[in-house]
Amino acid sequence: MPRNIDLTPFNTLALPGRAARYERITSPAQLAAITTTETKRFILGGGSNLVLTGDVDRLVLHMAIPGKRLQKEDNEAWYIEAGAGENWHDFVQWTLAQGWPGLENLSLIPGTVGAAPIQNIGAYGLEVGEHFHSLQAWDFEHREFVSFDRGSCRFGYRDSLFKQQGWHLDGRLAITAVVFRLPKAWVANTRYADVAQELAARAIATPTACDIAAAIIAIRRRKLPDPAVTPNAGSFFHNPVVSAELAAVLAGHYPALPRYPQPDGRVKLAAGWLIEQAGWKGKALGPVGMYDRQALVLVNRGGASGADVLRTMAAVQADVREKFAVDLSPEPIFL
Ligand code: FAD
Ligand code: EPU
Repeated sequence: MPRNIDLTPFNTLALPGRAARYERITSPAQLAAITTTETKRFILGGGSNLVLTGDVDRLVLHMAIPGKRLQKEDNEAWYIEAGAGENWHDFVQWTLAQGWPGLENLSLIPGTVGAAPIQNIGAYGLEVGEHFHSLQAWDFEHREFVSFDRGSCRFGYRDSLFKQQGWHLDGRLAITAVVFRLPKAWVANTRYADVAQELAARAIATPTACDIAAAIIAIRRRKLPDPAVTPNAGSFFHNPVVSAELAAVLAGHYPALPRYPQPDGRVKLAAGWLIEQAGWKGKALGPVGMYDRQALVLVNRGGASGADVLRTMAAVQADVREKFAVDLSPEPIFL
């Protein structure tokens, strides 16, 4: 088993850190064959939602299980299975090329298929849970393969059973494959204002799934930094969901405050807007700052460590708390 492996190339914030032990996993059987009494594990995908705070005294399992196929089809839907190590964006583009629409709104999200259910990835009016059917995983505690259906995953906004149980931190479960259910009765999802505007600008009145994918790819390329050029982990904070009372008070002071009413009566605010108003858009503390085109994205301007990230994170949280009485919680996983 390789030891003392540099993880810098394996996290999109390009933070330094070494794994005490490391194994690249290319088949489910390899997981079942891990007989070590090692209890401290971390399951690594594409490292695109990760803050490496230093060296990792654990066994890091780097998920690279390949494979994608039509598992079955009935009158209503296609069921597509993909290995946990497949690149998410490539997988989505492959489904579109096969003529199985449904995941197009999630184009260009970095990372792997296996990580998608962990935080129920979402963008542009769709969360993956909507088209999730089931997953298979190796359970290190009971030493058996297990399946989870959609209901048991308890998906929420950037949330799932796996996060609620803390399994994303202790490496108890390694997801090996995910099955998606894509209904044949496809309906274009253009309710996100940016998507509707982009399609209108392209003079597309009746978009295909590929048109929507192309529009979203263009929007994302304009707004979000490419991790290969400017290391980042996407949105660094969740959009906070606050009480209707606090939202009303804030809107009284700041009429431009973006507000998204939720089904439970609470109101989701735009963290990017709060951070920009707090003066952090394009501002940095040492090598870590908030991106100048999207204030919600924390960027490593070069040579940053995990400690630098924690310092900027705390400063942004403090300034937003002071100005708006709103607490921002980070989206990435800290290791
Ligand atoms: P990692 O960062 O490697 O891991 C994330 C978590 O999942 C960890 O807890 C890890 O232990 C766990 N995990 C990974 N693989 C497995 C597995 N096979 N089994 C069990 N646990 C596993 N997210 C969104 O929701 N919407 C967006 O629009 C979005 N845009 C982004 C844009 C950019 C530029 C970047 C850099 C990130 C963005 N993200 C977005 C965040 C990120 O892409 C997602 O969270 C993605 O699902 C992470 O996948 P990963 O393979 O890189 O996971
Ligand atoms: N805004 C600002 N200033 C900024 C950034 C945003 O005022 O610097 C305002 C925008 O004008 C808009 C609002 O905030 O009114 C929302 O902005 P945007 O549409 O860019 O989306 P977001 O809320 O910042 C969320 C997700 C993204 C996802 C996009 C599109 C979270 C935490 N982030 O970002 O997900 O791609 O919507 O659906 O929910 C991620 O999770 O890593 C991620 C990138």
